[in-house]
Amino acid sequence: MAYIKVPKAWEIPENQVTTESDYIDRRKFIKNLGLGSAGALLFSSTNACAQGSALEKQLEPFRSQTLDAKKNENFTVERQITDEIVAATYNNYYEFTTSKSTVWKRVEKFKTRPWEIEVSGLVEKPMTLDIDDLIKQMPIEERIYRFRCVEAWAMVVPWIGFPMKALLERVQPKAEAKYVRMLTFLDPEMAPQQNDFRLPWPYYEGLTLAEAMNDLTLLTVGIYGHVLPPQHGAPIRLIVPWKYGFKSIKSVVSIELTDKKPRTFWNTLAPREYDFEANVNPNVPHPRWSQASERMIGTGKRLPTLIYNGYGEAVAHLYK
Ligand code: MTE
Repeated sequence: MAYIKVPKAWEIPENQVTTESDYIDRRKFIKNLGLGSAGALLFSSTNACAQGSALEKQLEPFRSQTLDAKKNENFTVERQITDEIVAATYNNYYEFTTSKSTVWKRVEKFKTRPWEIEVSGLVEKPMTLDIDDLIKQMPIEERIYRFRCVEAWAMVVPWIGFPMKALLERVQPKAEAKYVRMLTFLDPEMAPQQNDFRLPWPYYEGLTLAEAMNDLTLLTVGIYGHVLPPQHGAPIRLIVPWKYGFKSIKSVVSIELTDKKPRTFWNTLAPREYDFEANVNPNVPHPRWSQASERMIGTGKRLPTLIYNGYGEAVAHLYK
């Protein structure tokens, strides 16, 4: 699995990305740059049902790989769990397509084995780990989390994973380490949108070390009791439930500890729209839409957005 360094100077001029205010989602934003193919296709449960058998076939190999993970009752929410089929057919994975409802059809060539994840940078014990060894070695458990996309849709999902801090403690961060920088794979043969050189592939994200060490920050290897299907970011992705979904980077190959604040994919593309912190906040609208409420996918319900997505008790102290 090859990956390259992100070209640091690469940036779309701000005047190309901040002047439009008449559209609501990032597929339109990308299309406006001349980068997208399909327009936004809105999900409906009828749509998912009509494609039912193909989807069942796509999910079957992953559903059959169940993971033995005990439910952690400390992490549950009062909202209803999103239907698995709804979650599996409503994805943001720009490496494959800009159309959420068709990601699951575009991941056919995506090979998630063998897979290695490198942990490097300002650590005492850098290591490269095979994903299956990692899963065996880490304390995996099931946690039900709220998930809130910056596009104002939300879901509630049972993830299976382990706290990122368990991995970071193993590599022993040096005192100078202040941030964590993560990268997704780069392989345009598997992920056709990565052929588009105008986007700064591979996808990259970052957290402060304190955020990465927070108990809520989960490196996730499963969902709904089984391994992650590719559309959710197999074989390992991040979940940071108090931040907008774009922080939850999928299919991670590298975790690097650094003393410098890392740049992020969406911040590079549109700095005034997607900041590094990206904490869920109903009181701070996105420049092009309100964040006061969210649409629960698959239910037709709109609910008020909660500060820190409801996780303030665990994380508000990080921002004092
Ligand atoms: N990670 C990568 N590598 N590529 C992406 O396009 N999209 C992000 C995030 N992680 C994305 C990514 C966004 S915008 C969201 S909302 C979530 O993944 C969606 O996760 P889901 O498809 O599992 O719901």
